Amino acid sequence: MSRFQVVSGKGGTGKTTVAAALALALATEGRRTLLVEVEGRQGIAQLFEADSLPYEERKIAAAPGGGEVYALAIDAELALLDYLQMFYKLGSAGRALKKLGAIDFATTIAPGVRDVLLTGKACEAVRRKDRQNRFVYDYVIMDAPPTGRITRFLNVNDEVAGLARIGPIHNQAQAVMRVLKSPETAVHLVTLLEEMPVQETADGIAELRAAELPVGRVIVNMVRPQLLDGDALRATVGGRRKEIAKTLTRAGVTGAAGLVRPLVEQAAEHSQRVGLEREQRAVLAGLGLPGYELPLIGEGVDLAGLHDLAAGLREQGAGEGESGRGAGS
Ligand SMILES: Nc1ncnc2c1ncn2[C@@H]1O[C@H](COP(=O)(O)OP(=O)(O)OP(=O)(O)O)[C@@H](O)[C@H]1O
Ligand SMILES: [Mg+2]
Repeated sequence: MSRFQVVSGKGGTGKTTVAAALALALATEGRRTLLVEVEGRQGIAQLFEADSLPYEERKIAAAPGGGEVYALAIDAELALLDYLQMFYKLGSAGRALKKLGAIDFATTIAPGVRDVLLTGKACEAVRRKDRQNRFVYDYVIMDAPPTGRITRFLNVNDEVAGLARIGPIHNQAQAVMRVLKSPETAVHLVTLLEEMPVQETADGIAELRAAELPVGRVIVNMVRPQLLDGDALRATVGGRRKEIAKTLTRAGVTGAAGLVRPLVEQAAEHSQRVGLEREQRAVLAGLGLPGYELPLIGEGVDLAGLHDLAAGLREQGAGEGESGRGAGS
């Protein structure tokens, strides 16, 4: 399983929720994962019911079997200081630059620069090793920008490598692209079983592929249960009202006659939804990608719900097999 898991998808489909559940699922059996956020919205802290995250990796949750989830909200401005420090050893000079407003320039004016810093920082965490030459994080999971921006976001270092043809910035940009275009990375797209997000997923996959970025899985979120089997649906939608009334009476329901109409109406709605969902499933199947499915949690996703979603992902095989850590090449 890829060590860098990028979670994108249409706005509001559950990117942040799914990224967090995946970070929990992959942290089991003593593994350590890092969940990163790049949009500066503190969605992760909210989800884990924690204080706002500083620009610092800190433990945010424990997973079954001694696993640990760390979280980091990557701040472009502070990442730039890191970056300058790394290449030019500009500790205090970096602070001076900041005073002069050079950093504001870099992070707010030059559009691509921000994304270079965000992806660069995430890849640094993916590649980071400890003294024993072991990866510090088994997996890094990114709550990434939405489908409409993900390809450009991940590809920005290609542009940079093209602009700076030699030197440290060129090398850094190339190193980031090497990680992003390798099997070490997987870009997942979260969708709902609805036409718009499914269409966006299909378009997003085509774009990622054209850019030679590794597409991972389609994660169908908020799946609602199918309450009636085929027979029941045919009976209700077919309007076999007498039969339904009889069955209700036999089952001891009083006032069955008055219930039939609303029941049939509800069933018709349900049946229509199931039909539409089936169509969308067929479109997704046509994409030929592996997937995960996560149920709609009726009461909304709190911390307990998040752990349930993580357990669901584990049941579907997330994090099975090899540990990501260990000595790397
Ligand atoms: N499986 C689920 N069951 C129930 N509610 C869910 C589920 N997944 C996500 N939600 C809810 O849907 C809403 C949107 O989820 P989330 O914030 O994760 O989406 P997002 O794609 O990150 O949104 P944005 O595009 O704004 O970043 C939240 O209120 C979240 O609690
Ligand atoms: Mg989000």
